[in-house]
Order: sequence, then C-alpha cells, then structure tokens
Amino acid sequence: MRNFKLSVALFLFAGLSYLQAQERIPEVEELLGKMTLEEKIGQLNLLTPGGGIATGSVVSEDVETKIKAGNVGGVFGVSSPAKVRQAQELAVKNSRLGIPLLIGSDIIHGYKTTYPIPLGLSSSWDMDLIKSGAMMAAKEATADGINWNFSPMVDIARDPRWGRIAEGAGEDPYLGSQIAKAMVEGYQQDDLAAPNTMMATVKHMALYGAPEAGRDYNSVDMSRLKMFNEYLPPYKAAVDAGVGSVMTSFNDIDGIPASGNKWLLTDLLRERWGFDGFVVSDYTSVNEMIAHGMGDLQAVSAMAINAGLDMDMVGEGFLTTLKKSVEEGKVSEEQITKAARRILEAKHKIGLLNDPYLYSDETRPEKDILTEENRALARKAATRSFVLLKKHKNTLPLAKNAKIALIGPLANNKNNMLGTWAPTGNPQLSVPILEGMKNVAPNATIEYAKGANITNDTSFAKKVNVFGERVQISDESPETLLKEALDLANNSDVIVAVVGEATEMSGEAASRTDITIPDSQKKLIRELANTGKPVVLALMSGRPLDISEEMNLPVSILQIWHPGVEAGNAVADVLFGDYNPSGKLTNSWPRSVGQIPIHYRMKTTGRPGPESGEFQKFKTNYLDSPNSPLLPFGYGLSYTTFEYSDVKASSSSLNANGSIELSATVTNTGNYDGEEVVQLYVHDKVRTVTPPGKELKGFQKIALKKGESKTVTFTITPEDLKFYNSQIEYVFEPGEFDFFISGSSDADFAGSFTLNE
Ligand code: BGC
Repeated sequence: MRNFKLSVALFLFAGLSYLQAQERIPEVEELLGKMTLEEKIGQLNLLTPGGGIATGSVVSEDVETKIKAGNVGGVFGVSSPAKVRQAQELAVKNSRLGIPLLIGSDIIHGYKTTYPIPLGLSSSWDMDLIKSGAMMAAKEATADGINWNFSPMVDIARDPRWGRIAEGAGEDPYLGSQIAKAMVEGYQQDDLAAPNTMMATVKHMALYGAPEAGRDYNSVDMSRLKMFNEYLPPYKAAVDAGVGSVMTSFNDIDGIPASGNKWLLTDLLRERWGFDGFVVSDYTSVNEMIAHGMGDLQAVSAMAINAGLDMDMVGEGFLTTLKKSVEEGKVSEEQITKAARRILEAKHKIGLLNDPYLYSDETRPEKDILTEENRALARKAATRSFVLLKKHKNTLPLAKNAKIALIGPLANNKNNMLGTWAPTGNPQLSVPILEGMKNVAPNATIEYAKGANITNDTSFAKKVNVFGERVQISDESPETLLKEALDLANNSDVIVAVVGEATEMSGEAASRTDITIPDSQKKLIRELANTGKPVVLALMSGRPLDISEEMNLPVSILQIWHPGVEAGNAVADVLFGDYNPSGKLTNSWPRSVGQIPIHYRMKTTGRPGPESGEFQKFKTNYLDSPNSPLLPFGYGLSYTTFEYSDVKASSSSLNANGSIELSATVTNTGNYDGEEVVQLYVHDKVRTVTPPGKELKGFQKIALKKGESKTVTFTITPEDLKFYNSQIEYVFEPGEFDFFISGSSDADFAGSFTLNE
C-alpha cells in the first residue's frame, strides 16, 4: 500500500516539476513570436567548422553562410575570444533576428590545464576535488569563449575492452551519481549567466557504456530493471543537479536508437524525471539511424524530433528535411517550436540573450588559462588519482638521493601524458616523468633508457597514431633497447619502469580484445624483475588492464592512468612520498578477458559460487578461473596500513521514517600519515527482485596521522535502501540487511539490521 501511495506521490511530483518547467521566459516568447518555421529549425542545427575532432563521417560546410542565414543554433570547435566574437557577430549582425550562438566544446578533463582522465579522477573518491576540477575547466574554457560543455560523461562501464571506459567514473551507480552531481555543480555553479560558468551536458543518454562485446558503437540490450537500478542513476543525478542539456548515445535501446527513442527522451527524461533543458544528438547520430535501419534521412529526422530530440549535431537532417515533414504533416510545427524554445531558453540561462559577447573578453585567457594555480590543482588531482596496486617489500616511497634507473617507453614522453579526449590540451606542455622526478628529487641520480617500444606491432601502432605520434617505434632493435635498459638497471639502486598504454589505446573507437600490457613491454618488465633489483611499475592506462602476470612478479605497482599536464611532477610527488597514495579503483580489474563483464554488484544467483573459491560442480563458477576479480572495486593500498575495528550498527532495527547509524573505527597502524576511503556496503537479504550481493551506500575519505584512530559514521535512512522493483517503482521493502564497512568492496560481513514495516 505504501508503495502505491509513494508512486502516486512521485508521479504527481514529477508531473508538477514538468509543469513548472513550462514557465515561459518573456524574451524567449517574444523571439519565438517573430520567428519563421525556417528560423526555428535553424536554431536546432549544431555545426562544427572543424576545430574539434571529426568523429563522424560528415564535416560541416559553408558554416559562415549558414550562420548569416539564421540556419545555425550553435557551433563547436571554435575558441578564443576573438574567434568567438567573430562567430557571434556573424549571427548577431547578419541574421534577421540576431540570435547569438551556443559555443560548445568537449572539455572532458580540463580545458588547457588537462587533469587526469575521468576514470583516474574518479579513483580519488574526492567530490570536492572533482568539483574543483570542473570549476577550473569552466573558468579556462569560458575565458576562451566557450559557454557549453559536452561533459560529464557518466556512462556506467563494466567492460574494460570498451575504450571509453576511460571517460567515465567506473562501474558503480552510486559513486557514478555522486561524481555526476559534483561535475555538473562544478561546471554550472549557482549562476549559468556568470562569465566563468558554462552549461554542462550529461552524456551519453543512455546505456552507451554497455555495448555488446565491448565494441564501441555496438548495440545494447538490457532489461528495464537493470537499466533503472544500475545504469540510469548517474544520468538522473545530473538531471537532478540541474544539468542544462543531455546528449543522446549512438546505441539502440529496446531496439530503438537513443536519438529517436521517445520512451527515453520524453516519457522518461521529461515526464518522469522532469528535465527542462534541451537534448542534443551525438555527432551525426540522427543520420546514423539510417544505418540502424530506421528509414531515410527525412524519416529518421522526423523520428528524432518527434521523440524529443531538440538539436541535431553536424548531420543537418533537421535543417534539410524538417520543413518538408511539417508540410507533409509528419511533424507538427508545435514540436519544432518546443525544441526551438528549449534552445533559446538555454541561451537565456547562459546570459547570451542579454549579452552575446559575454564570453569574448580578450583579457581573460592570459589571466585565467594555464595559471600556476590551475597547474597546481592538476598536479594535486593527479596525485589523488593514483592507485597503489601492489607493494613489494619497502621499495616505496623512494629515497630522494637514490640512484634510479628510469626505464620504459612512457618514462620520457610528452605525447601520452594527457590521455584520451583532451583535444583542447597541448601534449607539448606536459611534464614527462623524467623531468618531474628531477624536479622533485634534485639530489637523486636518475638515468633514463627506453627499454622497449610501446608495441612492436606496426599495424597496431598505425591505428593508435591517428591523432599524432603516440607510439614511436624506435630505429634501434628491441634487443638493443632491452640491453641498454638492463645495463642501466643493473647499475642502479632501484628501477622505476613507466609502462602501459599510449593515449589512443583507450577512448573513443579504441576497443581492445586483449587488455594486457603489450608484449614488447611485458618482456621488458619480466627482465627487469629478473635483475633482483627493487622494481616499481608506474602503470599508465585508460582502462583496467589484465595484469595477472605482473601481480605475480616481485614488483610494486602504482596505477597512474593518463595523469594530465602535470604528469611527471605528480608521479614524482607520490613515488618520493611527498604524497601518500590514496586512490581506490572504481572498476573491478579482471583476471582475464574471459571474466568480462565483471563488477562487484553481481547477484548471488540461485547457485552461489563457493565461498572458498574452490571449484564446485553445479555452482556458478569457472573450470579455469576463480569468480573473484584480480583486484576488486574500491581496492587501493597506501604506504601506511589501516585497520578497521568496532564495526557496528546503532540499533538492530530501522523504522520506515527513522534512521540508523553504521560506524567503524579506522586506525592508521603503519609508519606514514595517510588517507583512506572508508566504504559502506549493504546487502538486501530478501526482496521482490533479486538483490545484488553488495551495494555501495556511502563513503568518506579521511586523513589519519600515523597511530591515529577515527570513528566514521554513516547515517542510513530507508530512502537510501530504495531500489526499482519489477514495476519500475522506486521503493524500499522491509526485511533484513547485512552491512559491511571496509577499505574495499571485498569486505567482510560486519552485522545486520532489520528495516521494519
Ligand atoms: C562523441 C561525443 C562528443 C562528440 C562531439 C562524439 O563522437 O561520442 O562524446 O561530445 O563526438 O565532439
């Protein structure tokens, strides 16, 4: 009964916010009143004159003429106050109604001051830091004329073959939602019309992170239950945080491509979630519905606008066919007016209708871009993103006067520090690891040898080098490279090997079926481990890798992702112990590709895998691998150690309108000050739809001096225990819950409580 009342209330609430969203803005209504059908359609057209990355098959032509004719609502790939002013003048001074343009861009992890790839930054579990990064990106981008960002990317991803796992926040809907919110708040802050904030776009709605076989742009097929409980929450969190726009995804959902999916864009996004911004397609994703099998350009464009898509990115299907569809009665003019209204409302919110040149202040780039302060934040963010995966003996932290052999194809390299989707950053400004180590430890003796190529496979290298020379295959033979490295290694106190993936080995259209470190480097690592010297692997990648072999070698491993413009300094800060690593993985790392998709929220099934990990016939397990991942979600070590004690609940039961406190005492038992991400998981023991084995319900990042203890308390209410049932109602159900508090998802049972009727 309660569930019923609840859903009625929710329905009314959603309906109410939908109505409120319809409040009209006088300036916008006045403009709409003057607009012809063609001018309204013009607002729905987003073009790029080519300054960004052309990810689709179409590139815009005659952009200038189209802007002057009032055929363009926004552009992307244009930057600098002068160029943006020029573009705005084309629209403001030449088009009949003088409506300014949205100026978009992909600012995924920093504008010019590139900070770590999003998957790396998510490993900080530090929402203030993530928000500060977004604020810094907004300040820099708006200083350069941009007012609309195609970020955050919040697609849940559990398949490390998929290259775009690098761009998101990992596998978990709860953590992903917190990060989505922090990013939207950072980009937009309280006032979108302030000159240092930009409109955010949550993408890619929806389920883009779950393509079949991990192959980018592939189909997605998923139950509603799984969507609502696992994949949709971060998009919703962004909407709840007031995100200005939503970008659709390339994939289909229930057999209908996202850009033409009415259920997704209208029933769910607007009516159920109360979204009042505008929806933009992905790059030519409207046109791509032709290849999906939905009809010709006119048909798919009509399908998209009727589904609730407002703006067409690059493909010009709207521009070239919507008028005809209106004349033929396939699309109503009202539908086009609605979409144009949403675009104009966005322009109003951003402050453009008031002042088209708000973001064209020539004095700003110098003051706001790549400042010392910004670079310091990028350095801090990188140090917080690193995850210590393995400690071998006491190799780390390194002594600042050590004799170090710095080895590896990524050790003295600028081209691969920024990571995927950093088109606005300049790789040449990044600090290589060698330089950073010398900066931080001027008294150390540091010598460098390449040791191996990133890969020796020239055809693979060619595919990775599409945006520049990320993989450079040396003229020297692999044997010579190896010999130079071993000579250096044998002559040192300690070896630091910087190895892993080049930038373009992850990211868009960069799926891999083999997620190990390339063979050329694996061989180098083996040989270095064989020297008997202490070895540290600084492992760079845009995805979880299969490092089963390396975990068994006598080496320490620090995961450094693609750290951004301050790479070398940040890596050195951590290697030399100026900062004690505190990152925790936001994806489960598999033992092999055979375990994919893998994540910690797996259900127990009716035939749970044996707890011992030993194979048992007729249980859910593999003949040739344990079920558990190589490294679990939430995992990460520190130079110090933490112990958990006194894990308890404030009561054995929780009332429907009450709360319960779940707490643990955490003690720093090692020799260094450090930070720990304390994680709370629950397991709903009985409910109407099969529950996950564990679900993250809270986390706190705390700092502990050596020897210090702190008690960490999580307050849980029934609201926190809600899930979507088989009717897709968001409910909690009475019954028993287990809880776990730990520094990883691989946590021991701590206790139980009962949620009362
Ligand atoms: C990507 C989007 C991006 C767009 C515009 C597409 O290929 O999927 O994430 O925002 O290009 O650059």
